[in-house]
Amino acid sequence: MSRKVIIAGNWKMNKTVEESVALAQGVVAEVGSVQDVTVVVCPPYTSLYAVSQVLKGSNVKLGAQDVYFEASGAYTGKVSISMLKSCGVEFVILGHSEQRQFFGETDETVNKKTNVVLAAGLTPIVCVGELLEERESGVTEKVCETQIRGAYAGISAADAVKTVIAYEPVWAIGTGKVASPEQAEDVHAFIRKLLADMYDAPTAEMIQIQYGGSMKPDNAKELLGKPNVDGGLIGGASLVAEQFKGIVIPA
Ligand code: PGA
Repeated sequence: MSRKVIIAGNWKMNKTVEESVALAQGVVAEVGSVQDVTVVVCPPYTSLYAVSQVLKGSNVKLGAQDVYFEASGAYTGKVSISMLKSCGVEFVILGHSEQRQFFGETDETVNKKTNVVLAAGLTPIVCVGELLEERESGVTEKVCETQIRGAYAGISAADAVKTVIAYEPVWAIGTGKVASPEQAEDVHAFIRKLLADMYDAPTAEMIQIQYGGSMKPDNAKELLGKPNVDGGLIGGASLVAEQFKGIVIPA
């Protein structure tokens, strides 16, 4: 069974509309016709529509960095799934560690958002991962298990296969301290076994698991070479089109 590799660029709180259009144009020029890898860019909300126009006619897909779980109404500052869909969004990052750390994201809100994204026919990218102190105290698997069981509570196998998981050790995000390919593979294999326990082996085999945390052109090939590493969620290196290309098409 072979899972398609998925590389997603998480631009975080970077790029004005003009800068986003320029970066998206660069990404399309570098990797716009790649077919064997699913390529996604996740600009800030304010750039989604403009970037969607740049991506038209290319193979690059549009993602958002979050969504609110209510459909509409008095939720100042929030953005709904139908708003994202109307911008051409196909993927939504959920439960990113920065959302958990700074904006009160919990396993419960990730679960609500996962349901909303699936109901709209879009693909959730569910982020999980341990803090440095959690790795050091040997609870990495426990932390990931709690986050995944929480995010997938009540979600059927038929829906689970429509999701992507991103394993992002928090100590590796934006720090330049990448997990070794072995460290990544260990956790990815654990997550796949967990999914087999929660659902069944065929379901677990179908779910793509990305690695995220200081993935760069010079370490992507080794990480992506591991059997359970099916892609990458890329922060810093997604902000420069040539670097992003170096991960989508590792030399
Ligand atoms: P990084 O970010 O590649 O800059 O470490 C990854 C992420 O937060 O998704």
